[in-house]
Formats: sequence, C-alpha cells, structure tokens
Amino acid sequence: MQLSPPMNVAVRTARKAGILAREWFDRRHELEVKNKGKNDLVTSADLMVEEEILHQLKKAYPRYGLLAEEKGGMLTPDRPCWIVDPIDGTLNFAHGLPHFAISIALSEGGNLVGGLVYDPIRDELFVAERGRGAYLNDRRIRVVRGQGLNGALLATGFPHRRPERLPAYLKAFGAFFDVVADQRRLGSAALDLAYVAAGRYDGFWESGLAPWDLAAGVLLVREAGGLVSDFANGEEFLTSGNVVAAPDSLHGAMREIIQQAGM
Ligand code: IPD
Ligand code: CA
Ligand code: CA
Repeated sequence: MQLSPPMNVAVRTARKAGILAREWFDRRHELEVKNKGKNDLVTSADLMVEEEILHQLKKAYPRYGLLAEEKGGMLTPDRPCWIVDPIDGTLNFAHGLPHFAISIALSEGGNLVGGLVYDPIRDELFVAERGRGAYLNDRRIRVVRGQGLNGALLATGFPHRRPERLPAYLKAFGAFFDVVADQRRLGSAALDLAYVAAGRYDGFWESGLAPWDLAAGVLLVREAGGLVSDFANGEEFLTSGNVVAAPDSLHGAMREIIQQAGM
C-alpha cells in the first residue's frame, strides 16, 4: 500500500518501537512494574517504548499534537494529532503472554485519517488510511461477509476496572453465549479491532476503553468495510469508551443485545 508521508513515518516508528518492545518482552523480569490505578499496570517498557515513539513522531512532525497513554496530552482539533498506545496488552506483556501491540492513529479536524496496529511478536502490521482501505502486511483485508450472529466468533473485554458494570456485562455475555459459536477475551483491544478488520473475528464489543486503545483499530475496521459505533449507534466511542465493531450484518443485532442488557 502506498502510504502518505505521515503514515510512512508512523510505520517506521512502530517497527522500531516493536524491536524495543520485543527485546524488553524477553527481559521482562528486569522491568519495573507499577500500579497506576485499580487493575492498571505500567511497566518501564511501556514508558521506554512510548518515549521512543514520541521522539520519532515529534522529530518528523514537530507541530502535530500528541495524545499518548503514559505521557497524556489532548486531542488537538486545530491541527493533526497522533494518538498513541505504546503497548496495548500490558498485562499480557508483564505475564509473558505474547499478545500485545503498538497502536498509532492520526486524527485531523476531529476525523481519524490514519491508523496502524503492529504486533511485534508475529510481525503483523495492520494499517489503514481514510478512504484507501485496510491492509495486513501489504495484503488488503476485509471484515467477515454475510452471516448473522449464529455461528459467529466474537471478541470482547471484561469491565475489569469497573466492577459495577459486571452484572449488565454478564447479562449481555450470556445472551451472546446462547447464539454465537464462541467468545474470546485475549486482552488487547487494539488487536481485537485489527482482527475484526482482518475477518478473524466476526465482531468485537467492550466498554470503558480509552481513545488510545481504540483510535487506530476503529479506522482499520471501517476501512475494511465494517461498522463501528458506541452502544447507542452514535459516534461517541472515543469519549464514552463503549464500542461495537462488526460487519453491517451483525452490528445491529450486537447492539440490540448489549442495549437490552442495560450496558
Ligand atoms: C488494555 C487492553 C485490554 C482492555 C483494557 C485496556 P492496556 O490496554 O486494551 O484489552 O480490556 O481495558 O486498558 O492497559 O494494556 O494498554
Ligand atoms: Ca491500551
Ligand atoms: Ca498501553
């Protein structure tokens, strides 16, 4: 795929950061681990990988805004803004589970215009630009076609930082349980969305996510032909953190189940 100059920089940056993340994954016993909040870890690898990413992005585009998980910042509606999650799947990373990714998105005028999710363990690079399709390692990807919920494989995430949401969450989970083939919770929302874009999952839903978990994956799913919304079929997923991503044939049915459960 022919990428725009900023997304070329983002890809080069993600690959470099991926090498660093892999190195630290192999030496994870040497890392410092801290608790940022309830069930919310940060390792020194998150900080080092983010620093490397921000350094490269700032060097190439000093005037762009930055919103990054560890360093903070805000979306800048008046100029392009990078949205960065240095390691999505930190708990997996810290436990030696090889399922985590680097996520970098670019927003312009409030619209997501570029996004990448890079899995350095499998060397899988998912990348999309607005209006130009979604790709996995240079191959065009698309969401699953056709089927309804019957027989579908869904991905989700538990409300592990918001236990008060658990009863409604379990109600929705149970309703899906009755109709779909099975459900997965692998622990990286960015990869969950990338896998929907690649047709590996039929759909994904989760609540309480942060913009950096979602931004790149949302564009991947849309550019792969899928629908993404919040639970009320609105556009507020980056602020509410509630997201449903699926092909047209599933999106409405998923939302109905989630809404009926009171999520
Ligand atoms: C987490 C992952 C996980 C989701 C959490 C996120 P982190 O991101 O995306 O799948 O369930 O809510 O916070 O903390 O590993 O970057
Ligand atoms: Ca994350
Ligand atoms: Ca993270």
